[in-house]
Amino acid sequence: MAGTFITFEGIDGSGKSTQLRFLANFLRSQGGNVLVTREPGGTPVGLRLRAALLDAQEQVDPLTELLVFAADRAQHVRRVLRPALEAGQIVLSDRYADATKAYQGAGRGFSPELVSEIVELATEGLKPDLTLLFDLSVAESSARTRRRSEGKQRGDRLDSEAADFHTRVREAYLGLAEKEPERFRIIATNGPVEETHERVKDIVVPFLEARGLMVSREPAAAGSRQTRPL
Ligand code: TYD
Repeated sequence: MAGTFITFEGIDGSGKSTQLRFLANFLRSQGGNVLVTREPGGTPVGLRLRAALLDAQEQVDPLTELLVFAADRAQHVRRVLRPALEAGQIVLSDRYADATKAYQGAGRGFSPELVSEIVELATEGLKPDLTLLFDLSVAESSARTRRRSEGKQRGDRLDSEAADFHTRVREAYLGLAEKEPERFRIIATNGPVEETHERVKDIVVPFLEARGLMVSREPAAAGSRQTRPL
């Protein structure tokens, strides 16, 4: 396909959404044709599914949860992701199928085989070209989600799962990255946001350049990298 598909993954509070925003702004400033999207909730119907899935008052059965995340994804793949990729866009998605493997697989305990089958059904084989895994200890990320939800009436249903749930999810993500080292990049997010952003750019810019979606020109006089749009 003409475009490129980059996903942002990590446990809740890992800092992925902030980094996605920073990267999208940077790429747009370079003239990149960027689509920012997310799961769950990347389509109008998906937004309604998201509200139901994350409502802390709702008693969502794990099987329902697995299938609704998959339904959200099917709509997203068919109505948003494929058309954007066919149109040559740089698609940045806040979560995708690896989240189901980590959360519903390792977190809820569904077998990897079943989860893979459902993921395959929903995605019709669409895989990210690059996955950035934002990694932070469960203790640090929980402190962040707690601070974030202080202003709200209540946290998301999945945010408030126990620490061992998030530990299983984190380990599953790291295991997925180990199995597909060519697709995944692990980025530690315990440092300052700007430093993490620099590391994200150091990965993504050459990746896009290699695909002809962004070209870095002659090294800048001061030795800093300069990029310009095609
Ligand atoms: P996210 O949008 O990252 O949360 P927030 O914007 O509040 O930081 O994700 C919402 C939650 O949904 C998160 O706890 C992870 C969960 N999730 C799954 O359990 N399975 C999935 O397949 C996806 C896409 C998300």
